[in-house]
Amino acid sequence: MTYKIALNFEDGVTRIIDCDDDEKVTDAAFRQKINIPMDCRDGVCGTCKCFAEKGEYELEFYLDEAMTEDEAAEGYVLTCQMMPQSDCVIRVPTSSLACKTGAETVSAEVVAVDRLSDTSFGLRVKPAKQIAFLPGQYVNISIPGSGQHRSYSFSSGPAGEDGSFLIRNIPGGLMSTWLAETAKPGDAVDLTGPMGAFYLRPMARPQLWLAGGTGLAPFLSMLELVATEGTDQPITLYYAVTRAADLVELDRVSALAGKIGNVTVITILAAAEEEHARKGFVTDHLSTADLNGGDVDVYLCGPPPMVEAVRQHLDAAGVKPASFHFEKFNPTETKADAA
Ligand code: FES
Repeated sequence: MTYKIALNFEDGVTRIIDCDDDEKVTDAAFRQKINIPMDCRDGVCGTCKCFAEKGEYELEFYLDEAMTEDEAAEGYVLTCQMMPQSDCVIRVPTSSLACKTGAETVSAEVVAVDRLSDTSFGLRVKPAKQIAFLPGQYVNISIPGSGQHRSYSFSSGPAGEDGSFLIRNIPGGLMSTWLAETAKPGDAVDLTGPMGAFYLRPMARPQLWLAGGTGLAPFLSMLELVATEGTDQPITLYYAVTRAADLVELDRVSALAGKIGNVTVITILAAAEEEHARKGFVTDHLSTADLNGGDVDVYLCGPPPMVEAVRQHLDAAGVKPASFHFEKFNPTETKADAA
């Protein structure tokens, strides 16, 4: 049996490799031209120690000096002794460059460009080869004729052959101008990635997902995965935009939520003149139940002021969530920061 192993490097690059169930992860990586740091290869030195965020695996022999039982119980792994028993996600505590690898660039063909609203486009592309990624991650998309690229999270699930994206319309912006005026099916673009630390971790507690505008994209990708894998945990998704016309992909969100069950979708409009059940900002509507006394994983993708507002709201409420993952995007159409 062969499993997919996502190696997440410190510089945000992810490489997803194949590993047989009787193959050590470092050997599989090396076979695929990725040198995870190692020394003894025998479970003795600890040089190959990484952290397994997700997945089942067996560890062969190792000494306590290389990795303690407590570390093993926490999720640390010696990758020279690790044989996967499922797909896994592993955090490698060094850069991709140090492992003699980097983000991959794959050419792709535009399949469709849709004007979803005044404020957003949908872009669908067919990569020359399928790009493996973790739902929530992004790629850099080249803008033909400009020599530049912009970063966008996948809105499609990781299993599909095509990749789709939600792209904010920024009048005068390079990507927006290309999409509005030039882009057509058949055009060629390059995708570089996947990248980013904003991806769905194993769901061990209630989920609070906060999307601002086209920050909905990574949550669509996550919903696609959860609709396939299932979950026992409740998911609350807040989707905040300025005007009703900016709400896009609601049918898809509803269909995925219906398939998963136990998903609550709450929309919020900021513009004062709009009529809507919930007006204002996300922080005006977060409830004590949503924060669940801190036993909650919070994921947020939106503009920097939204990230700051939610941080301050959590501080003011005296709640420290079990985990808080965020991705900010800024007006230059590039990713600003992620954690
Ligand atoms: Fe020494 Fe893995 S390389 S413990």
